[in-house]
Amino acid sequence: MGDTILIRNASQLVTLKGSSEAPLTGQGMSNLEIIENGTVWIKDGVIKAAGRDEQIMADYEAGNEAAEIIDARGRLVVPGLIDPHTHLIHAGSREEEFNMRLSGATYMDIMNAGGGIHATASKTRMASREELFRKAFANLNEFLLHGVTTVEAKSGYGMEWETEKKQLLAAKDLNEHHPIDIISTFMGAHAVPADYKERPEEFVDHIIDYMLPKIVEEGLAEFNDVFCEQGVFRPDQARRILEAGKKLGLKAKIHADEIEPYQGAELAAELGAITADHLLKATDAGIKRMAEAGVIGVLLPGTAFFLMAEFANGRKMIDSGVPVALSTDFNPGSSPTVSLPLIMNLACLKMGMTPAEVITAVTINAAHAIGRGKEIGSIEIGKKGDITIFNVPNYMKLQYSFGVNHTHTVIKNGRVVVR
Ligand code: NIG
Ligand code: FE
Repeated sequence: MGDTILIRNASQLVTLKGSSEAPLTGQGMSNLEIIENGTVWIKDGVIKAAGRDEQIMADYEAGNEAAEIIDARGRLVVPGLIDPHTHLIHAGSREEEFNMRLSGATYMDIMNAGGGIHATASKTRMASREELFRKAFANLNEFLLHGVTTVEAKSGYGMEWETEKKQLLAAKDLNEHHPIDIISTFMGAHAVPADYKERPEEFVDHIIDYMLPKIVEEGLAEFNDVFCEQGVFRPDQARRILEAGKKLGLKAKIHADEIEPYQGAELAAELGAITADHLLKATDAGIKRMAEAGVIGVLLPGTAFFLMAEFANGRKMIDSGVPVALSTDFNPGSSPTVSLPLIMNLACLKMGMTPAEVITAVTINAAHAIGRGKEIGSIEIGKKGDITIFNVPNYMKLQYSFGVNHTHTVIKNGRVVVR
């Protein structure tokens, strides 16, 4: 700390100012606040000022202090990107299942035959905390290279206490040792483990009576997530788990309506979940109820792309008043990518979102999706000095020129971490 950085003369400085209290909806998702010839002044890890270069420099020069100057001429400056839904911590990969799916097997067939989430869980149970840390650390480096400065990370590849805990402890280690901030979610209800196959209700009880209280006692997570899906957890089971978590202070998230319509969006609204994620098969009634309840829809077009499924209707959700955020869903089965910029391209091309809405969805709305709207997600005085500079002159070009990593410089907590 103690460093001063000036990012000067951006051809577009996109601040997303004015939405720290609540996520943006509808037309509001296009309110980016774009400053031409923009400059950001960061001091001691925090944003001190942002505006037109001449205005910021007048104040800066009056103070007569030294700063590192970053030339952003011809470039786009945005808040550090936020990924609000990942399964970051896991062992192994599943390219052989990819091959099976290309030959016609479905994601759920593979999972029901003991592969899928179960395959990753077997490997994750065997890996040490250090091994999980090392693999995720390398993935986080890749996230950073794509402009991402905060990542949500779920457990869920144990479905038994020791492994769930090991994953969440690895997340803590990563939060300490990697520049990216990690926000943790407990997802013990990711699949019903083999030894509970004949008595799934007992597994739900075990999560509620044993795991959730320990998560809270040991301070391992802030959010509680369930895979509510046909053949996984029913809506009534998801409700029990999420309500029990809420009583203990864990905010509810839900993998909803991913493969089949299953009342997931409706349940998220009923529970006042902070987010409902996926929503490929959400019903119109569910979308309406999410809008009324203010549940953020976290859309994961990388998963639809990789599972060769129909994309979520992002356009309809925004037009219906649902606040939308975007994420990679980074995981070894349904979305093995860390490229949030690719997700942004897909959101435009496959979900009918505009480039402006997409920027909102990976900054301020993504911050709200992890309960961090006041700290990150916009370039405003007092917020964390998390900034990404892209080597394109305007935000539209970022969406238009796809398949290329345009990241130029990343600043995290006021320190240059990628250049
Ligand atoms: O969000 N759907 C459930 N969970 C993940 C996939 C996890 C896996 O296949 O390993 C998802 O798509
Ligand atoms: Fe997921």
